[in-house]
Amino acid sequence: MASWLKNAVFYEVYPQSFYDGNGDGIGDLPGLCEKLDYIHDMGFTAIWLNPVFDSPFRDAGYDVRDYRKVAPRYGTNDDLMTVFQKAHERHMHVILDLVPGHTSEEHPWFLESRKAERNAFSDRYIWTDSWFHTCPGYLSVGGEAERDGTYLLSFFKCQPALNYGFLHPTESWQTAADAPAALETREAIKDVMRFWLDRGCDGFRVDMADSLVKFDDEKKSGTSAVWQDIRRMLDRDYPEAVLVAEWCRPDLSLKAGFDADFYLDHDGNGYQSLLRDCYNGEDRSFFRRDARNRDIGRFLNEYLPWLQEPGYVALITGNHDTPRMARTLSPREMKLYFAFLMTMPGVPFCYYGDEIGMRYLSLPTKEGGYTRTGSRSPMQWNDGRNCGFSTASPERLYLPVDPAEDAPNAAQQREDPDSLLSCVRKLIQLRRKTSDLQADGGMEVVSAQKDMLAYRRGAYLMAVNPTGHAREMTLEENWKAVFAIGNVEWENGICRLGPQSFGVGKVSGVL
Ligand code: NOJ
Repeated sequence: MASWLKNAVFYEVYPQSFYDGNGDGIGDLPGLCEKLDYIHDMGFTAIWLNPVFDSPFRDAGYDVRDYRKVAPRYGTNDDLMTVFQKAHERHMHVILDLVPGHTSEEHPWFLESRKAERNAFSDRYIWTDSWFHTCPGYLSVGGEAERDGTYLLSFFKCQPALNYGFLHPTESWQTAADAPAALETREAIKDVMRFWLDRGCDGFRVDMADSLVKFDDEKKSGTSAVWQDIRRMLDRDYPEAVLVAEWCRPDLSLKAGFDADFYLDHDGNGYQSLLRDCYNGEDRSFFRRDARNRDIGRFLNEYLPWLQEPGYVALITGNHDTPRMARTLSPREMKLYFAFLMTMPGVPFCYYGDEIGMRYLSLPTKEGGYTRTGSRSPMQWNDGRNCGFSTASPERLYLPVDPAEDAPNAAQQREDPDSLLSCVRKLIQLRRKTSDLQADGGMEVVSAQKDMLAYRRGAYLMAVNPTGHAREMTLEENWKAVFAIGNVEWENGICRLGPQSFGVGKVSGVL
């Protein structure tokens, strides 16, 4: 396990929308370099950069056309290496987005694979043996190629699935997971990883990490074996490289060799009760003052057993696929959530702009974003033209900036000690200087009530009262205040929590 992960605090950068360095209306890598000091000054120690590779951008870059080439709109390979170098100079790490399960339909491998005559790439993707055979359980496309067959998709129509084989092949066109063609795909992706690791990247966030081997069993044993093999390569040649899974099953992914796995807001899971309530229109986010169906137990029951696994759970504020947290939470509620995030075990991830409470905008779809587009608008740096994102004329922007008069911005919040940004900055400082509050070590739930949560980590006790009413908790030890949002008093073993408050206390002796 990479040593740097233990006190890492990640910042996710969606490159299109972060900072436009050359005034063409879209974010780029030189722009990111200009803003590294901001990220560093906030206290973040690492960056997850969404795909920056050559692509037709039918899924915002998750449709890769060339894994080894930076998309011209973001700059050059040298620019990316400069990002690594400048981040490293600031003792920060950068992980790239690896999309191993599919490519763009314009990738040269696919252009070869779709040809009628057999060639070295015929089995790089998964093709049925006839134009009228599809594969049950998977979407497949016919009528597009000279080749007599249909090909399996991984996500959108533009994203054909790469062939890592089938766990139990049943048809002649299905290769086994250890057949030469499947192993060649695996080696090709390993080459891509080595390519960027050799150029200075510190690891990967892995897109749809559970999707590789088809008709996998419940334990995903076929896909897990692929990752275990890749992990062996990393342990041998790049021991400080980090792998973070988009899988949301830490009980499987961490055993498969990932260092961390995201806890994502999948419909119906505990994350919904923690942070979001946008799918069913139910009002159950724990951090909302007036939530009607608050139930932190749903989150804890799912999350606590995962802490026993050999790696980390990565909690997020949101990402480029989720609604922004500001869609459901007020600025005060976001502070409470950030306090929770920064005092939990595992690896915290903040999506760019969530540290200032950027809003979810109602925007038409862009590059396959659909409802996700509203979470991808340009970073609001200041109250100048285009919120300081770009010097281009507004109609040339990749996406419009938040038009609201009171759109939050980083410059203004940096000046305000009570702002969300200032609160996030203090919380990151607290986490980074307090080893008990970092990734390692579990947590002990001291009290999980319908509308209050208290948990202990080492010498520290965290207590949160999301409601609009005061709460009180009796404890067996004495505590002194270390950090507070709202009114929190620690006195003679009693913790008094004012409305919408969060307290961090340090044990100061027995009663
Ligand atoms: C998950 C990514 O986060 C998402 O943005 C993308 O559309 C799909 N995987 C397909 O790659």
